[in-house]
Amino acid sequence: MSTTPEADARDLFARLTGAEPEGVWSSPGRANLIGEHTDYNDGFVLPFAIEHRTHAALGLRGDGRIRVASTFDDAVAEVALADLDRLFPDRRGDVPEWATYPLGVAWALLRTTGLAPAAVTGVDLAIASDVPVGAGLSSSAAIEGAVASALNETWDLGLDRVELAQAGRRAENEAVGAPTGIMDQMASMLGQPDAAIFLDCRTLDANVVDLGFARAGLELVVIDTRVKHSHATGGYGERRAACELGARTLGVPALRDLSLDDLPRAEQLLDETTFRRVRHVVTENQRVLDTVRTLREDGPRAIGELLVASHASMRDDFEISVPELDTAVEAALAAGAIGARMTGGGFGGAAIALVARADVARVTDAAAAAFQAAGFRTPHVFTVTPSAGARRDG
Ligand code: GLA
Repeated sequence: MSTTPEADARDLFARLTGAEPEGVWSSPGRANLIGEHTDYNDGFVLPFAIEHRTHAALGLRGDGRIRVASTFDDAVAEVALADLDRLFPDRRGDVPEWATYPLGVAWALLRTTGLAPAAVTGVDLAIASDVPVGAGLSSSAAIEGAVASALNETWDLGLDRVELAQAGRRAENEAVGAPTGIMDQMASMLGQPDAAIFLDCRTLDANVVDLGFARAGLELVVIDTRVKHSHATGGYGERRAACELGARTLGVPALRDLSLDDLPRAEQLLDETTFRRVRHVVTENQRVLDTVRTLREDGPRAIGELLVASHASMRDDFEISVPELDTAVEAALAAGAIGARMTGGGFGGAAIALVARADVARVTDAAAAAFQAAGFRTPHVFTVTPSAGARRDG
């Protein structure tokens, strides 16, 4: 029997509480078309929401506590709202890791609004998702968006979508402890069908950019390498620190403030590795701007080279690719993809390929064959459709 994440969230809620939820809210995962590791450098990104969503069914409780359960982890977590401040950030290990996302959102919303825990009602939340976890498609932002939307309405906070995205990022940075930027939360909150969100991560100005994939007969293929990554540890934070060092050394508030013309000076002042990190961010920002212009002027079939150049920059300058991602990109291009690149934070996760509808099967088979030949696990290959952002479903 096939079920939907909304039905799964309702079922789980019924099993948890024996009652019907007050409402169900959902928010999508995202794929990033281009603009990687530019968000925390105050730069530009061009992500889109995908049709895979996380649903949160919410019910009220009279005892000032918050309980969270999910279909992707058996561990249920429950805590008094008044104790969230004791939990985050120092005692986050007291709850299961997955629960730090929804509980972190509740904490961030209370912090952001300055409301006392006693001023809001306790809640039960049952969460179900079909966003692949660890695939670089932002299952975390999908949880944050669904829970933030549910609590915003239930607690009558009156926050707008950008403020909810900011609360989600705060949860991720401070409660979960992953030093990520704002791209994923903004994409999940603001997504639109067949469009990407062109976001200036300094001003948070967001413009909807028509992608026109459907009209052009194109599909966006995701090749999930099944190499799991985590941004709370390791490489992500190191890259971020290198970018901050680069900006400090060059005397700018953020790498966003550099252009291609600044690169010769950067090369003189920075050590070789830091220079390559900086060069990735500066050239990637330019590629986002070029992609937006190309989409508007020439349509989606013309952006292939920009996607390929982005991947090369992440592989060679930013060094966040892995052999599985490189193999996915090469196999897709060899099988006729218009463009391909890894998407998301890197060190695993997924690649995306822009492919003519007639070539999808060929690209899918080519990726599987290349992985088998290299001795990698079989990749998950599927198409995604640019879709709507967070909403109330029932
Ligand atoms: C992760 C982070 C985002 C962004 C990307 C890289 O998805 O959550 O904020 O930094 O990596 O572009």
